[in-house]
Amino acid sequence: MNTRHLDIVVLVLLVLFVLTGCGKNDPGLAKEVGLSKKQLADIEERIKPFSVVMVDGVTAVVPVAALPGEAKYAACGACHGANGGGGVGPALAGQTVEYIVGRLNQYKAGEKVGNQSNLMWGQAAGLSDQDMNELAEYIVTL
Ligand code: HEC
Repeated sequence: MNTRHLDIVVLVLLVLFVLTGCGKNDPGLAKEVGLSKKQLADIEERIKPFSVVMVDGVTAVVPVAALPGEAKYAACGACHGANGGGGVGPALAGQTVEYIVGRLNQYKAGEKVGNQSNLMWGQAAGLSDQDMNELAEYIVTL
C-alpha cells in the first residue's frame, strides 16, 4: 500500500469517526460516559426506528414500535412473571386492559381485593393513569 492509499484510509476512518460522533450514539457507551437521562432517551428515540430484523432471509430495517409499558413492567415481572404467567402474584396474561387498569386503580385507592392486596398497594401508589394504561397495553401482549 503506498502512502496515498494510506492517506485515503486515514481520511475515511476520520470521517467515520466524526460521523458516528466518536461513539456517542452507542447507548452502551453512553451509559459509561454518564449521559443524562434526557440524553439517553433522545438517543434511544433516534435509534429506535433502525432495529434490524430478518424478513424472508433478507436483512431489512423496519421501524419497531416499542411499547412504553415494557420498561415499566420490569418492576412487576418479579412477582407476576416476565411473561405474565404469575408467581408470587396471580397471572396477568390473558386479562384485558380494562380489567388491569381497574385493579390497579383499586390498589392505588388502598382497596382490599384479595388476601395479599397489601403487596400491591405500594406498587400501584406511584402509578399515574398513563403508567397504568401503558402497563396494561403491554401486559395484554404477553
Ligand atoms: C411484591 C410482588 C408484586 C409486585 C412487585 C407486583 N405485584 Fe401485582 N400482585 C401481587 C399480588 C400478591 C397480587 C394479588 C393481590 C390481592 O390479593 O389482591 C397482585 C395483583 C395484581 C393485579 C390484579 C390481578 C387479578 O387477578 O385481579 C394486577 C392487575 C397487578 N397485580 C398488576 C401489577 C403491576 C402492573 C405491577 C407492576 C407495577 C405489579 N402488579 C407488581 C404481587 C405483586
